Amino acid sequence: MATATATWFLCPSPASFKGSEMPIARFRCCSSSTNSNSVSLNTRAEPQPVTTFVKAFAPATVANLGPGFDFLGCAVDGIGDIVSVRVDPQVHPGEIRISDITGQAPSKLSKNPLWNCAGIAAIEVMKMLSIRSVGLSLSLQKGLPLGSGLGSSAASAAAAAVAVNEMFGKRLSVEDLVVASLKSEEKVSGYHADNVAPSIMGGFVLIQSYEPLRLIELKFPAEKELYFVLVSPEFEAPTKKMRAALPTEIGMAHHVWNCSQAGALVASVLQGDVVGLGKALSSDKIVEPRRAPLIPGMEAVKKAALQAGAFGCTISGAGPTAVAVVDDELTGHAVAEHMIQAFLHHGNLKASAKVLQLDRLGARRILD
Ligand code: HSE
Repeated sequence: MATATATWFLCPSPASFKGSEMPIARFRCCSSSTNSNSVSLNTRAEPQPVTTFVKAFAPATVANLGPGFDFLGCAVDGIGDIVSVRVDPQVHPGEIRISDITGQAPSKLSKNPLWNCAGIAAIEVMKMLSIRSVGLSLSLQKGLPLGSGLGSSAASAAAAAVAVNEMFGKRLSVEDLVVASLKSEEKVSGYHADNVAPSIMGGFVLIQSYEPLRLIELKFPAEKELYFVLVSPEFEAPTKKMRAALPTEIGMAHHVWNCSQAGALVASVLQGDVVGLGKALSSDKIVEPRRAPLIPGMEAVKKAALQAGAFGCTISGAGPTAVAVVDDELTGHAVAEHMIQAFLHHGNLKASAKVLQLDRLGARRILD
């Protein structure tokens, strides 16, 4: 059976390069929007691999954080996806092949790089770097369940982008890697960076703008305790469907409320105020009210979390995972138990829980 590979050399990307490379080559671009069949474009020197194998890990993320729909997110430690990239002489230069997918629901994922989050991001990075004389094989270990609200697709994309960039000497900036990963998000769920940016950068991230992309790292004080209680029911909430449920217009009162809460959330993160963070996280009046009814038991789960001592609770990303915040691990486990029971009794859904801390590092190379 023929293996699907993908080549990137459609058009070079205007990605910004680090270092002092000068344009040295001109090549044909097969854009159909030009008058002739080809157009000459300046390209930059093609970097060579600094190693033949790279393995990278990218953490799970909590997007939105309540009132921060599409502009706030954070990374959580301990769970995520792993991508390994290898120089493969069997793969045509400039192309990429997905050799294997293991872990969570591998059969649900395409091995065609053009339809796989890791593949799409890897191709984008190859494009940005103008890689055309080396072929790559990619292997994906899915640690995160699909459609769970934990940034599963983003973690695959982030790990792939970082792995390919590492292989060619880390020439791209964080913003470039986020842009590359955004291509993948755009294809599978929607153009939002509140999973990919924190997965790549770690910690809390504010996306100030998309055009141009402006990312602001929000430093949560190192000495403060913060735990995320993540409770995932056995229920699928595809991001596309959950985005389709949202209002296209909102009233001024809700706009003012959500903006003030998002501002309070940012201030709480910077001050290490977990109580304030929880309060703001719980306060969304625009997105959560539309999505919660689509996740059986979610409203009761939020009440149960707050009654059990959480400072706040909302939907993680597009759901169905519920996220609550606390400032000690023991309370986190007690809150998790109450949330699991609420999913069972009010939503008829089995659920599993994790109590995790902030991932402050983001996507990174790991040893084999
Ligand atoms: N901001 C996105 C959404 C995150 O809520 O649709 C999806 O994980």
